[in-house]
Amino acid sequence: MRGIDELDVGGKTVLLRADLNTPLDGTRISDDGRIRASMPTITRLAGRGARILIFAHLGRPKGADYAARAAGGPSLQPVAARLSELLGQEVPLAADVAGQAAAAAVAGLADGRVGMAENVRFEPAETSKDDAERAGLAGRMAALAGPGGLYVGDGFGALHRKHASVYDLPALLPHAAGDLVLAEIAVLRRLTENPERPYVMVLGGAKPSDKLGMIAHVLDKVDRLVIGGGMSYTFLKAQGHEVGKSLLEEDKIPEVSAVLEDAAKRGVEVVLPVDLVAATGYAPDAEHYIARVGEFPADRESMDMGPATRALFAEKLADAKTVFWNGPVGVFEFPAFAAGTRAVAEAISQVSGLTVIGGGDSAAAVRKLGFPEGSFTHIATGGGASLEYLEGRPLPGVAALEAAEGGAAR
Ligand code: 3PG
Ligand code: MG
Repeated sequence: MRGIDELDVGGKTVLLRADLNTPLDGTRISDDGRIRASMPTITRLAGRGARILIFAHLGRPKGADYAARAAGGPSLQPVAARLSELLGQEVPLAADVAGQAAAAAVAGLADGRVGMAENVRFEPAETSKDDAERAGLAGRMAALAGPGGLYVGDGFGALHRKHASVYDLPALLPHAAGDLVLAEIAVLRRLTENPERPYVMVLGGAKPSDKLGMIAHVLDKVDRLVIGGGMSYTFLKAQGHEVGKSLLEEDKIPEVSAVLEDAAKRGVEVVLPVDLVAATGYAPDAEHYIARVGEFPADRESMDMGPATRALFAEKLADAKTVFWNGPVGVFEFPAFAAGTRAVAEAISQVSGLTVIGGGDSAAAVRKLGFPEGSFTHIATGGGASLEYLEGRPLPGVAALEAAEGGAAR
């Protein structure tokens, strides 16, 4: 993949795909990490005189056609406003994705200025499984750039999506990877190629199904697998423990058991919770107490890791030289149930080797819990993309950036 320094961008229209998919509280941005992470590429392109039109998605708009989706939102308006603040220049938001408004926005760009198209997912073709539908939209997007137009792919968090603006559009224009994409991929390479040992992977989040493929793939790479939070209850259940009304993927128990056996065979230590926070229900003020695994009540649900588990997880991280963490280990959004996730973040922040916080929820968690960015080597901007990379799956967005326009290998 070539970087933006290899493109001659001065006075050219650059279509920049960024991942500005930020958590929203109504129209208020609750974590602007992805917008800030996208700034280096934007400012460097602008500094070299590019005329930049940003394509980005927000949420997962629903509706049969463009009109229904645009009416339902979410609009990128709050993101354009935040970007304007960070850039110190007004970033106009076109009222459509690849129509007259976007064309007018491009026509209005002076050298070094930035505009945005509306949420690319208002166009149903963006995420279509039909190659011709996506190609049609990509063609309309490419036409906006005019002669000499260029494409820069910097939306790391969406690289695992075979979407028009990620996968099809770069095939139509001379292109390069942005700084964020190159930085993220460089970190993922360090995790895959000769990581320093012990290599400890910490996994949380709601469901084992999201991560079983990845776990199976990394069993020959990691020394220790620490599993907490929502997905750990299926692991505990697979070992025959009562988990009450906690999150559970009953149908994944056979696969989880197979992973546990495989790990044992390969000498990978799997660390599971030993005590849990047993709450009356999913609420910020739910009454709760600490229950040891093996004594969990049938009528309660676990919302967090107990103190013995927090100490155990910290101990299992203490000697690590490489750490990858994806997924909170409790309902950290509720302060009463944030202790487990905080303990994991704290323990990782003490590790002296390579520490990578992998993705959306975990990144938002460490920021929300007040850990300064410098507490970790790297905070990835894409959970799904990171996990698929670590699973060894080729990312469509990477393949597209590696190929020459026209599809031939570079
Ligand atoms: C993300 O938030 O994980 C990325 O922006 C991709 O979004 P998606 O999961 O809706 O495709
Ligand atoms: Mg996601």
